[in-house]
Amino acid sequence: MTTLYEVHGSVALITLSNPPVNGLGHPTRLSLTRHLAQANEDDAVKSIVLTGAGKAFSGGADIKEFGSPLATQEPNLLSVIMAIENSPKPVVAAIHSVCMGGGLELALGCHYRMAAPGCSVALPEVKLGLVPGAGGTQRLPRALGVEPALNMIVSGEPVKSEMLAQIPGQKLFDKMASTAAALPDEALAFAQAIADTRPLPLVRDLPCKHRNGDAYFQFARNMVKGMAKNLPAPLKCVDAVEAATQQKFDEGMRIEREFFTNLMFTPESHALRHIFMAERAASKIPDVPADTPQRRMDSIAVIGAGTMGGGIAMNFLNAGIPVKMLEMKQEALDRGLATIRKNYESQVKKGKLKQDKYEQRLGLLSTTLSYDDLNDADMVIEAVFEEMGVKEKVFKELDRVMKPGAILASNTSTLDLNRIAAFTGRPQDVVGLHFFSPANIMKLLEVVRGDKTARDVMATVMAVAKKIRKTAVVSGVCDGFIGNRMIEQYGRQGGFLLDEGCTPAQVDKAIEKFGFAMGPFRMGDLAGNDIGWAIRKRRYQEKPDMKYSKTADLLCEKGRFGQKTGAGWYDYVAGKRDAIPNPEVVQMIEAHRASLGISPRKISDEEIVQRLVYSLVNEGAHILEEGIASKAGDIDMVYLMGYGFPIYRGGPMLYADRIGLFNVVQAMNRFAKNPLDDANFWKPAPLLARLAAEGKTFN
Ligand code: NAI
Repeated sequence: MTTLYEVHGSVALITLSNPPVNGLGHPTRLSLTRHLAQANEDDAVKSIVLTGAGKAFSGGADIKEFGSPLATQEPNLLSVIMAIENSPKPVVAAIHSVCMGGGLELALGCHYRMAAPGCSVALPEVKLGLVPGAGGTQRLPRALGVEPALNMIVSGEPVKSEMLAQIPGQKLFDKMASTAAALPDEALAFAQAIADTRPLPLVRDLPCKHRNGDAYFQFARNMVKGMAKNLPAPLKCVDAVEAATQQKFDEGMRIEREFFTNLMFTPESHALRHIFMAERAASKIPDVPADTPQRRMDSIAVIGAGTMGGGIAMNFLNAGIPVKMLEMKQEALDRGLATIRKNYESQVKKGKLKQDKYEQRLGLLSTTLSYDDLNDADMVIEAVFEEMGVKEKVFKELDRVMKPGAILASNTSTLDLNRIAAFTGRPQDVVGLHFFSPANIMKLLEVVRGDKTARDVMATVMAVAKKIRKTAVVSGVCDGFIGNRMIEQYGRQGGFLLDEGCTPAQVDKAIEKFGFAMGPFRMGDLAGNDIGWAIRKRRYQEKPDMKYSKTADLLCEKGRFGQKTGAGWYDYVAGKRDAIPNPEVVQMIEAHRASLGISPRKISDEEIVQRLVYSLVNEGAHILEEGIASKAGDIDMVYLMGYGFPIYRGGPMLYADRIGLFNVVQAMNRFAKNPLDDANFWKPAPLLARLAAEGKTFN
């Protein structure tokens, strides 16, 4: 049973019991309506309390039912709420811990609500590209007031129960429990006290008006339009709440339902739901069960206090885990420490970090020049120069000093992790933790699993990633891992587009219009064009047959490395990040094009987007087939969290699925015929060809 039933004196207590968050899946809804009927049939029962067992009142819909017919199977949530509203005996919701989505809508259907302090209350449907679908947009404004309700519905963000209870005139909570622990007893006493009160109050009967409705909703729409780029749901939230103020309750419910159903079929909602599931799925590794024992993680060491080392250290300090940083020279340590301090100070100045927290975090940081000081750390993360010789020295030292069982991690972005592991006598303890720059900000963490990495090491680092609030995605060992291996192909296409007739600004604009945070050339300027240059030089040796545009090399030969040198594909004014097109760069591209005997052609935005995105898709398909990524959703997460792929398109692999893999393959075949492109590359990856032929998808 997913609800429990007890009778305390004259009060029936129905407890949702569907761990972990009392999701309102079909079995729970069925069981709840049965227990409700039982309470109403029992003459000894005068009133009913509805609560949740464990760590939530209810977290809302059961995500396992997403997109399946079970989600709407009767009794659906609307019917359950109707049954509660129609209950002849009063129903009191006793709310604690978490009350979200369908859980809040359920509570709003009850006659009374009592909340414990500290409860997180939200209607997060908008984050899945939806409006609340079981009366949330109609009942919450009636219970809470139009403006606070709209804020909650449009943002999807949780608000604490005690904050909501302070809103003047609110009818969301009839009573606050004195403490969370006291809630069950106080709710039973309350239910007893109101047992005979009639008529039973219903939120649907409350008035819903705004004094300046027209002006307010206009203002709200303008705000939301600015923030909700390309996402339809937030504006629909405004429309639905406005309907609550203008229409009769039942008509408002009909409108909400219509919005909900239409949004469910939008590509944007599909993308957001895919991301929600993919993020959860990414944290699960097929052969590492959830109950795999984890190693201790009470202290960290970081080798190298440069760009990455400092940012990596901050992640752990922010999570309250002590960090010891090692460098070769005192000056390097001082520099690294100063950067960390400056970073935190700027957060304090902006009011994002309290002074005492700042001191606390710095207090957890210590430094050393001696490897022997690292022997008590549970994990060490190496972030030294990207050279195998340097890594070899460092890992041999770590093997010498680290205690048995310590995890030895490398932040390498290109080097072979298996070789690094082989420098030690304990390759099972070696793992890659590929952070992205700036490491204290970027959400993505590629966890690189070596051939010999132990399962408990994987389980431990995945848990650590969660602790430091990263989205971790597992990658096998290959050059560039998932993200950079794909971006190399995307960059190559960018180069060919320049050779054939585009300017950097045209390419960037087209892909930014598609939704990318930044086009390939602005991104190159941000990351430093010298990084790609170094990689290409290596490639020219390793893969002499691989075709490259030479424009990026010409740019680097001029010292135009990007923002750090004030000049790259664009010009930059000191202290600003605006990319200003540079006529000399355009001339350089034209001259190079002429030297190749290419007459430029006008290339459409559509072709630019297709070539850039499908290059990711094709390389992604190879990565999937080789088992470097274990699922397509993992590749999508890498691109969404680390490379600015538009959220509302759900990642490159989901996007390809939507376009239809058959159509993607057709386009690739077309590109392969372009003599200035790389026909070899556009040969669809075998997995892609197979799925396209079978009419299947990646996800
Ligand atoms: P960096 O040059 O800013 O910092 C490297 C630091 O390591 C320097 O402070 C240097 O003094 C120190 N160091 C060098 N050899 C050492 C040794 N034997 N013992 C102790 N300290 C030593 O380099 P960055 O950018 O921080 O890169 C570090 C690692 O992170 C590289 O493997 C790189 O590929 C990787 N990475 C870099 C990213 C980036 O965007 N910069 C992104 C992801 C990974």
